[in-house]
Amino acid sequence: MFGGRRAKAKERAAAAAAARSERYQIQVRGIRKDFGEHHILRGIDLDIERGHINVIVGGSGAGKSVTMKHLIGLIKPDEGQILVDGEDIVPMDDFALNEVRTKFGMLFQYAALFDSMTVEENVLFPLMEHQRRSKSLAEMKEIVTEKLHSLGLFNIEKKYPSELSGGMRKRVGLARAIVMEPEILFYDEPTTGLDPIATKNVDEMIQEISEKFNVTSVVISHDMASTFRIAHRVSMLYKGQIIATGPPKEILKNPPDPLREFLVTSGTVELPPAGEDD
Ligand SMILES: Nc1ncnc2c1ncn2[C@@H]1O[C@H](COP(=O)(O)OP(=O)(O)O)[C@@H](O)[C@H]1O
Ligand SMILES: [Mg+2]
Repeated sequence: MFGGRRAKAKERAAAAAAARSERYQIQVRGIRKDFGEHHILRGIDLDIERGHINVIVGGSGAGKSVTMKHLIGLIKPDEGQILVDGEDIVPMDDFALNEVRTKFGMLFQYAALFDSMTVEENVLFPLMEHQRRSKSLAEMKEIVTEKLHSLGLFNIEKKYPSELSGGMRKRVGLARAIVMEPEILFYDEPTTGLDPIATKNVDEMIQEISEKFNVTSVVISHDMASTFRIAHRVSMLYKGQIIATGPPKEILKNPPDPLREFLVTSGTVELPPAGEDD
């Protein structure tokens, strides 16, 4: 019996190894999701490039957050595959998913820190959840300090979030997201509600983390200027599908109408009028 189970696990590992792509860390194939009568995702195909900054853009309500929740296994699709390093996470149970999730770090829109906890306690939190058995408190605190330093945050361990500026709070949120040294970082609209200068700071922070830790970044945004500043690869979600994907320069050569409209309305880039040859 054990042999059978072991053989199955071996088979799964071999299948994952065969499907694993060096270039793409996440490969989404044909994801569909309905909420009641609403067809939110209508066949999403999406590749996330390893070690690069991948930005998903789209209007509000387009299904960007729902898509991201699929990528991290919080929502199961009605149909389709989501391969993470070649392993399909769709059929996984919670136990297997938790294993995969150790690769993930997340920074949500309102980088919610716990207000009643110090910076140190906030950043310690994921370590306490996952590594209490393998590391001493002193070792974990050392990791926290090291991560804070790597983000340019010094001597704030004992401070409370309310004592920090908005920009510093974002950085602390990011320290918490990277404390487990994830391979993939997810950001859901990290610049929403920020002024242009704070937005630029967050952009720089995403780039800095991408380079320093060589992580794969998946960023959801509706901020076009920000997107085209930081993205290595842009994908646009529209009416439940990815209608354009590629490096910013490529995508700007001949953007589909909805993306063109998005770009023009936001005044981000100058485009030649649609349908005209030069
Ligand atoms: N759990 C849910 N149940 C029902 N409808 C949902 C749920 N989550 C999201 N939706 C709907 O799916 C659509 C896409 O939502 P969302 O992904 O949050 O959009 P956005 O692109 O702004 O992030 C919206 O119409 C939203 O109301
Ligand atoms: Mg959203």
